[in-house]
Amino acid sequence: MASSRNEFYALMVVVVVGSIVASCGANFNQDFDLTWGDQRAKIFNGGQLLSLSLDKVSGSGFQSKKEYLFGRIDMQLKLVAGNSAGTVTAYYLSSQGPTHDEIDFEFLGNVSGDPYILHTNVFTQGQGNREQQFYLWFDPTRNFHTYSIIWKPQHIIFLVDNIPIRVFKNGETIGVPFPKKQPMRIYSSLWNADDWATRGGLVKTDWSKAPFTAYYRNFKATEFSTNSFSDAAWQSNELDAYGRRKLRWVQKYFMIYNYCNDLKRFPQGIPVECRR
Ligand SMILES: *[C@@H]1O[C@H](CO)[C@@H](O)[C@H](O)[C@H]1NC(C)=O
Repeated sequence: MASSRNEFYALMVVVVVGSIVASCGANFNQDFDLTWGDQRAKIFNGGQLLSLSLDKVSGSGFQSKKEYLFGRIDMQLKLVAGNSAGTVTAYYLSSQGPTHDEIDFEFLGNVSGDPYILHTNVFTQGQGNREQQFYLWFDPTRNFHTYSIIWKPQHIIFLVDNIPIRVFKNGETIGVPFPKKQPMRIYSSLWNADDWATRGGLVKTDWSKAPFTAYYRNFKATEFSTNSFSDAAWQSNELDAYGRRKLRWVQKYFMIYNYCNDLKRFPQGIPVECRR
């Protein structure tokens, strides 16, 4: 009796420890492949930390081994510090092919002391042109901050430190395709775009400051099982009152570009998803 009880406790310890490990189990060695840039992309601290670098010869990048179809993806990033003008750190989800879907974060560097731009976009069926840009309410090079994507059949939410900055609703009923069928991988790359990223190419990258380095940690992917979408929880509003208030705050004080307001870009009328 006693020994079987001990076995039971031992088993419980294994179960509990096992689930703790699984919930903080992200390991860059296990979950990601370094895809370009040779030794400019590195995984260290036993898989807990990843860095990408850019120099005059090349940038670098990585991608997830797995594909995801709906879920919540969190990653902490610490962006290129100092004079990062002309560098772009792209962090995104994407499927493949000409009709691919894509959910983008892109961080456009700046000269020392001037703000990064967080550029976002959503591609559906190969078509993007849905840019929104933001300043951040903190210096993204000083510490790690969490950038998240919640992807459900009803909507996509972009979050920064758990604060929603953008919601892209499923507009299939008004004729706007929504990413629902093509699984996506997670990608990130650090590259040079001083031909456009810095005020249309005005400011050039200062290569004497190279290599430029960005850091990643605490990756977490929570997959939503598709049959859970019939649950009442999924039918509820995308954000609670607090989330809606935060979203309004970000959009009011930090949004610097919204394609929906760019009338001269869409002379034949703004996209339908902007009209509601
Ligand atoms: C860089 O800083 C300038 C001056 O504050 C700002 O106008 C610009 O939007 C910033 N970001 C980029 C990527 O140029």
